[in-house]
Amino acid sequence: MENKSDLVIRKLDMTDEPSLERLIDVVESNLNDRRLWLPISNASKEHFFDETWTVFYGAFDKDELIGTVGLFLNENEYGESQKEIHFEKYKIAEIGRIMCHPDYRRKGITSKIMKEMMDYATQFELDALLATAHPQNTASQKLLAKYGFKKEGHIIKSCDYERDILIRRMK
Ligand SMILES: CC(C)(COP(=O)(O)OP(=O)(O)OC[C@H]1O[C@@H](n2cnc3c(N)ncnc32)[C@H](O)[C@@H]1OP(=O)(O)O)[C@@H](O)C(=O)NCCC(=O)NCCS
Repeated sequence: MENKSDLVIRKLDMTDEPSLERLIDVVESNLNDRRLWLPISNASKEHFFDETWTVFYGAFDKDELIGTVGLFLNENEYGESQKEIHFEKYKIAEIGRIMCHPDYRRKGITSKIMKEMMDYATQFELDALLATAHPQNTASQKLLAKYGFKKEGHIIKSCDYERDILIRRMK
């Protein structure tokens, strides 16, 4: 990236699928700690470009996708965490699959994508946004705290993935 104005942030569409797959590969093959990244299920992947289920915002440097934030609008994604904190009566969605290419980290890029996503999410008139993060995922925890997410509970996902459940009130 020559300078920050080269950065474009926009919603992803079907044509971005190969770029998204490439970014996932890079992020997954560069994890310092496997416990911090919940493997993506096929069911989830199948709905990545179904807007009633998942919406991604991404940052592009020239034509390369370098970071994403996902919004998951389907209960199959967030239902387990929602129940764990007894939030069934609230209309919620989950923020997840927050990732940044290792060469572009700590430059505020994901924070910028988060801002766009928070604006986008207002149209759904949600009571709250939910996110989960490993207690020791400092980058993720700091990013979420910056956008008003607070710890509401704790869950063990897929047997051995420890996660804090964080909530950001929207009303
Ligand atoms: C989490 C992740 C997306 C953050 O991306 P990023 O573009 O580096 O984040 P930002 O530069 O916008 O930083 C956000 C905040 O976190 C802080 N931060 C980022 N990385 C950090 C680190 N390794 N240690 C401590 N703080 C960190 C930043 O200082 C910033 O806080 P500030 O604005 O108060 O200074 C990136 O580290 C990543 O892809 N990690 C691997 C995948 C992952 O764990 N995703 C989350 C799953 S829940």
